Amino acid sequence: MDPWSPNVIVAATDGSEQSLRAANAAAALARTNDAHLFIVTVVRPPEGWWGIVGAPPPAESLGNALADAQRVVLEKTVEAVDLSGVRFDTVEEVGDPANQLAAFSEEKEADLMVIGQRGAGLVERIMVGSVADRLVHIATVPVLVVP
Ligand SMILES: Nc1ncnc2c1ncn2[C@@H]1O[C@H](COP(=O)(O)OP(=O)(O)OP(=O)(O)O)[C@@H](O)[C@H]1O
Ligand SMILES: [Mg+2]
Repeated sequence: MDPWSPNVIVAATDGSEQSLRAANAAAALARTNDAHLFIVTVVRPPEGWWGIVGAPPPAESLGNALADAQRVVLEKTVEAVDLSGVRFDTVEEVGDPANQLAAFSEEKEADLMVIGQRGAGLVERIMVGSVADRLVHIATVPVLVVP
C-alpha cells in the first residue's frame, strides 16, 4: 500500500468529552500531515420540523437557542483543542447528524473523518453511540472512531 497522508480531515464535534478527544487526534493528524481540518457540528432541528418542510431548514431559520448552542459547541471545541499550526475552519450544519457529516465529508473529498465512540447523549451507554454507529455504516470516507 502507498504511504497514506491525508490532505483533508473532518472532526465531528458535539461538545462532548469524547468528541473533544477525537478533535484533538484530528488536529494532531492535520498538523503532522499539513492537512486542512474542518471542525463540524450538526444541529438537529426539533422533531416535527422535517415532517412539515420535507427537508432540513436553512440555518438562518433556526431558533436562536439552537444557533447559540451550536456556536457554544464550536467555541468549546476550538478552545479545548491544540490548533497551533493547523489550518482549520469551523462549520455549522443543520439536519440529521450522521447524514450531514457523511455528506459533508464526501463533498469535501475528505481523506479522513474523526469521531468519538460516544457523545453527548444522556444515556450512559455500553454500546457505540447511534451517530457513530450510523456513520461507520454510511460514510464514503475512512472513519477513525476514538474511544
Ligand atoms: N450533532 C453532532 N454534530 C457533530 N458530531 C456529532 C454530533 N453528534 C455526534 N457526533 C459525533 O459522533 C460521536 C459519537 O456520538 P453519538 O451521538 O453517536 O453518541 P451518544 O451521544 O453517546 O449517543 P446517542 O446520540 O445515540 O444518544 C461524537 O463523539 C461526535 O464525534
Ligand atoms: Mg449523540
